[in-house]
Amino acid sequence: MSAVLEVRGLCKSFRGLKAVSDVSLTAEEGAITGMIGPNGAGKSTTFNMICGFYPPTSGQIFYRGRDITGLRAYQFADMGIARTFQIMKPLGNLTVLDNVASGAFFGRHKAKSLSQAREIAEGILEFTGLTARRDVLAREMGTPDQKRLEVARALATKPDMLFLDEAMAGLNPTETEDAIALIRRINEGGVTIFLIEHIMRAVVSLCGKVVVLHHGEKIAEGTPEQVMNDPYVMEVYLGKGAPNVKG
Ligand SMILES: Nc1ncnc2c1ncn2[C@@H]1O[C@H](COP(=O)(O)OP(=O)(O)O)[C@@H](O)[C@H]1O
Ligand SMILES: [Mg+2]
Repeated sequence: MSAVLEVRGLCKSFRGLKAVSDVSLTAEEGAITGMIGPNGAGKSTTFNMICGFYPPTSGQIFYRGRDITGLRAYQFADMGIARTFQIMKPLGNLTVLDNVASGAFFGRHKAKSLSQAREIAEGILEFTGLTARRDVLAREMGTPDQKRLEVARALATKPDMLFLDEAMAGLNPTETEDAIALIRRINEGGVTIFLIEHIMRAVVSLCGKVVVLHHGEKIAEGTPEQVMNDPYVMEVYLGKGAPNVKG
């Protein structure tokens, strides 16, 4: 497997506070890579830099061998990269269908008309299990459906790499199982996935490789089993309770 994403020495400071410190990592083509770590570890900040929402203070990001450091968020869709946000960002006054249709105007579909965008969106609603909610306003939905909608909107850009920031937070066990199954199906469709997740059951069942951040630094990397048995990782999680294996 070759690395589709390579991050070298990534750092980010916010007014003197080091949020991310010298993080290097790779994500392999076709794989599902995970990132875990306690709250405030710098996980979302790392994603935000990789996806062009913040410029790094220093460090470099390569995608398919190309240096993409400093490119802006809107340029990522064209490269086949999509993401979801930890805090969902639906277009609240639009229907579920049109939220997804709006994504189809970006990225590699580039719908030419609203009807074409809606046609693409219908397929994605079917794939993500949102068809029954197609005419509901996004703001009227609860967390589980909004999480699903985030994924659906990202898929509407037809990505070949997808970043998921806590796509399962706030879901009950049944909804979590559904989300795990959906992520697996997306991956089986050829999409490389990089996900931040607190629910260890999901990480164990989905990820070939996991990167662990703590205080902005990468403290471990390996299979889910390797990192969960790493003494330092266990110590880091001890004060906060063990990683949430049951979810
Ligand atoms: N836009 C920002 N401005 C200032 N500080 C930030 C900003 N974003 C994140 N931080 C800080 O950076 C650290 C890492 O945050 P974050 O990346 O959100 O952690 P995680 O996603 O692992 O919980 C935290 O201390 C957080 O308060
Ligand atoms: Mg976060």
